[in-house]
Amino acid sequence: MKLLITGALGQLGQDLIRTCKARGLDYLPTDFSELDIACLPDVRRVVGEYGPDFILNCAAYNLVDQAEKEPYAAMRVNGIGPRNLAIVAEEQDVGLMHFSTDYVFDGKQREPYTVMDRPQPINRYGQSKLLGEDLVRSLCNRHFVVRLSWLFGGNGDNFVRKVLRWAKAADTVKIVIDQVAKPTYSLDAAAAAIDILESGAYGLYHLTNAESCSRFEWAYYIRDYANLKVELEPVQSDAFPQTAARPVCSVLDNYPLEETIGHELPDWQDATRRYLRELGAFS
Ligand SMILES: NC(=O)c1ccc[n+]([C@@H]2O[C@H](COP(=O)([O-])OP(=O)(O)OC[C@H]3O[C@@H](n4cnc5c(N)ncnc54)[C@H](OP(=O)(O)O)[C@@H]3O)[C@@H](O)[C@H]2O)c1
Repeated sequence: MKLLITGALGQLGQDLIRTCKARGLDYLPTDFSELDIACLPDVRRVVGEYGPDFILNCAAYNLVDQAEKEPYAAMRVNGIGPRNLAIVAEEQDVGLMHFSTDYVFDGKQREPYTVMDRPQPINRYGQSKLLGEDLVRSLCNRHFVVRLSWLFGGNGDNFVRKVLRWAKAADTVKIVIDQVAKPTYSLDAAAAAIDILESGAYGLYHLTNAESCSRFEWAYYIRDYANLKVELEPVQSDAFPQTAARPVCSVLDNYPLEETIGHELPDWQDATRRYLRELGAFS
């Protein structure tokens, strides 16, 4: 099986590469400098030359606040990029796995969001990701759309690395307690994504580590496991006015992940411990 990976220098891209190597899969990693997914002629050329069985689109514009100021930049990567991949995948009979986000939901629902719930983004980033989802689903028959949440892994400037950095810089750190979701380790997501791909069961998925938590609970866990000398103070989101609104509760329900690949992912505590060990983050 030949896989073309776009956005390969990102968190998920790097962990997909690790997973492909471990499983002996043939893959071509590309990032912006080799393939700008927003350029249709370049997408046609690279896909035509490599001839993959599947494209895994990890390229994304993930600057949630910045997207409010430059919505077209977000739409270019998160909407037009996946559109181009979908057009070319359909033309060249290639399957497409596209990654999306819990931020397509408004976060007002008290129950976890299932794949049957209607997205209603509350910020420009979420709108641009929903556009990408919709275009992939309408333009490419053989598609997988996989929503992830609170992703961490590799060298990304993710929440785990931020907590480690904040703890070095201050005695007390304020962390929001009213945003709840499911932290997801990109290494676990990558392995499960390949399992989904190999299942041949096309469609829409929610893919996260098991169990949900607030940002505060997650930070508390990181602090204790990494033995950080810092006080954590729980605060409400309005203590940190941000340009973009965030969904308050964007917990994803993974049905039918287990029915497709035979297992759920480990819980976020297990995933966080493995990542902290990988970072060697112990005081
Ligand atoms: N990060 C999260 O918390 C989170 C949460 C939920 C869902 N997701 C989704 O999960 C997927 C993977 O996210 P991630 O955190 O691994 O992303 P990431 O670390 O930000 O990586 C994205 C990669 O795409 C590259 N890129 C940007 N524009 C491109 C273009 N036009 N053509 C080709 N490559 C381009 C980026 O390069 P530059 O760095 O040079 O821009 C970067 O290397 C994305 O679909 C994301 O929306 C992420």
